[in-house]
Amino acid sequence: MSYTITVFGLGFVGLTSALAFAEKGHKVYGFDLDAHRVELINGGKLPFIEPGLDDALLRNIHGNFIVTDDAENAVRNSDFVFLCVGTPTGKNGEADLKYIYSAIDMFANVLHDGKHRVIVVKSTIPPSTTSERVIPYLSAQGLLPGDRFSVTNNPEFLREGKCWDDAINADRIVCGVEDHKGEEMLRSLYSRFNSPFFAVSLNTGEYIKYLSNTMLASMISYANEMSIIADAIGDIQIKEAFNILHMDRRWGGASMSSYVYPGCGYGGYCLPKDTAAMYAQSMSKGYEPLMLKNVIAINNMMPQSMAAKIMRVAKPSDKIGILGLSFKPGSDDVRDSTSAKIISLLLDAGYTNLIGFDPVANECFAREYNFAEVRYCENVQVIGDQSDVLVLVTAWEQFVGIDKKYPGKPIVDCRYFL
Ligand SMILES: NC(=O)c1ccc[n+]([C@@H]2O[C@H](COP(=O)([O-])OP(=O)(O)OC[C@H]3O[C@@H](n4cnc5c(N)ncnc54)[C@H](O)[C@@H]3O)[C@@H](O)[C@H]2O)c1
Repeated sequence: MSYTITVFGLGFVGLTSALAFAEKGHKVYGFDLDAHRVELINGGKLPFIEPGLDDALLRNIHGNFIVTDDAENAVRNSDFVFLCVGTPTGKNGEADLKYIYSAIDMFANVLHDGKHRVIVVKSTIPPSTTSERVIPYLSAQGLLPGDRFSVTNNPEFLREGKCWDDAINADRIVCGVEDHKGEEMLRSLYSRFNSPFFAVSLNTGEYIKYLSNTMLASMISYANEMSIIADAIGDIQIKEAFNILHMDRRWGGASMSSYVYPGCGYGGYCLPKDTAAMYAQSMSKGYEPLMLKNVIAINNMMPQSMAAKIMRVAKPSDKIGILGLSFKPGSDDVRDSTSAKIISLLLDAGYTNLIGFDPVANECFAREYNFAEVRYCENVQVIGDQSDVLVLVTAWEQFVGIDKKYPGKPIVDCRYFL
């Protein structure tokens, strides 16, 4: 069965989901408040770098996928409303739901018309948010889920840099539901995807997403703490030690090894904010999560630990070249990038002679962080030639062998990559 779907928020998750549904033959309306983003998408251009998603956009834009500026009308014609807006970190670490509420305000009126629709919260929201915040928000406007509409959640597990493949070949589809009609419609919508489908309770759907991200964050902080212990003891080959750890057959060939590997802390949009939100949610329910508390503390400590390492090698007058500015290779996303934290610490300590290079994120980084002291280089050669000390912060393939190319030049490898 073909459906009509409206997607609110055309970021990594919303645009990818919209195009995946369009590719599967559904009619999809996309709506976003960011006029620049809308203009780019309408012109067939992605607002960020994502291999495969660019071609999917060209195949579907103005066909099965239409970007609209009339959200209410799009929802009026839709069977599903997907909320894919941001859920940033609030004042006390909690997930801020303001964009979810603002999106709901844009179509709530339409829900009175008697057509059954499924509202799907795809944004990441802490366990119990759909039942304790979203449904009460609708109910306060006289909108009780039931005959007229279902309220569900459907956490997204895609990885930036692999958005398209992760969406079109999802390893699992999880839907939090509370009524039969909502479950059946979601099951039918996702029947065109060749992925295992799980319908679970509303709280379980949200919980599974946090189970995933807090576990990844914990593995990273575990590996980072182990690397700090190794540094303190001395004469420990950290890179070799972890590579040998990964040879244990119990890992079963799974590709989790990149998470159980030391570096300079997890960054990006999801792990920092979701770990903080799970901590805050648990605190609000009366339990202080001791493990998550320390996972977060270790992560917060990592940029300082790396800056101290750099300062042991470099003098304040040295020209320091920062290799990599995005939060991970394969992406131009610079949100919560560790490079920015390390640069701030170096600047505060009087190390002001800084140059940076990223294969794709120079511009995004310069725009987002506005460090007046940092100059940006156009390629690896320039930064390599001009720096007195190199600091590898993002493990881009382009940096492989840079230590061999500049023998004798001090390199602080924050990712144990070279
Ligand atoms: N980025 C990821 O890798 C990833 C993976 C899984 C889940 N998530 C979750 O998915 C959600 C979205 O993440 P993202 O990375 O796509 O965010 P994003 O910041 O890239 O995109 C969010 C978009 O929502 C738009 N928006 C805000 N309010 C709106 C409204 N009322 N109506 C329409 N558009 C509105 C913004 O303009 C923006 O374009 C978050 O909750 C995030 O935690 C993200």
